[in-house]
Amino acid sequence: MNYETIFQEIYQELLSVKDIGQVADYIPELAYVAPEQFGVRLTTIDGEKFAFGDAEKRFSIQSIAKVFTFVLAYSRIKSSIWERTGLEPAGTPFNSLVQLEYDKGIPRNPFINAGAIVICDILASELASPKENILSFIHRLTGVNSIGYNDKVALSEKKTGYRNYALVNLMKSFGNIRNDIDIVMDIYFHICSIEMSCTELSQSFLFLANNGIVPHSGEQILSASRTKRTNALMQTCGFYDEAGEFTFKVGLPGKSGVGGGIVAVHPEKYTIAVWSPRLNKKGNSYKGMLFLEEFTTKTSSSIF
Ligand code: DON
Repeated sequence: MNYETIFQEIYQELLSVKDIGQVADYIPELAYVAPEQFGVRLTTIDGEKFAFGDAEKRFSIQSIAKVFTFVLAYSRIKSSIWERTGLEPAGTPFNSLVQLEYDKGIPRNPFINAGAIVICDILASELASPKENILSFIHRLTGVNSIGYNDKVALSEKKTGYRNYALVNLMKSFGNIRNDIDIVMDIYFHICSIEMSCTELSQSFLFLANNGIVPHSGEQILSASRTKRTNALMQTCGFYDEAGEFTFKVGLPGKSGVGGGIVAVHPEKYTIAVWSPRLNKKGNSYKGMLFLEEFTTKTSSSIF
């Protein structure tokens, strides 16, 4: 199938749709992004590549990084991870505090902020140099060693991270954070600041479409069963209180970030990464979601 022609067609159609989204500005450093940028890249597990627009331009991947840290922790501590985080959709915004007290400091899932912070705590215990080890994991997934943190963004996250500090303190009071809070939050703020392009994101998620094996290196990252479970979690929890709508309209497991990126996985087939910085009210890319909805409709390629 000629995906590039389809990308072009959908892009043209969406030009006539007013982008009612807003660039994330609750973290000051994120507000500087030029909002009209748009990129998409699809990579098949057989190595075919299709790109359009600003596919090579790096942007702040934000919460998409929660998939990398979850996979790294899951590959190390296996099913004992479920003693520290749940696996149910939260149905609340990504930074919500309300459920956490009822659930005695156990986050609903690893993709809401509370869950991702617990995963950073696990990695602080498990890894010798967590920040370096997380980056080298991403380098192995992509084959690109220049991917890194943006320290300015990480600092901006830290300065404005009042809700995230509230989450970590609440979880610490329940005994679900084992390390020093500042060590855990330094990892969390840094993973949010990682910058990657659509091309790199699409490449990095390919193992999730390929039964846990990185196609270019043959490295088995997760077992086939844990890969299936990671995709299931992305399907039910990857878009916070919009996970139902993403499933309904796009029909693929995926993960979003407030930098405007979305990555979706079609198991056994391909990964697709799209970037459009303006976000809808739930914090997901407005045009990115529309684009993927059109894409899976035109190509009849949802998993359902
Ligand atoms: O914790 C935060 O506020 C962010 N840096 C990460 C949020 C994010 O990307 C949520 N996603 N859609």
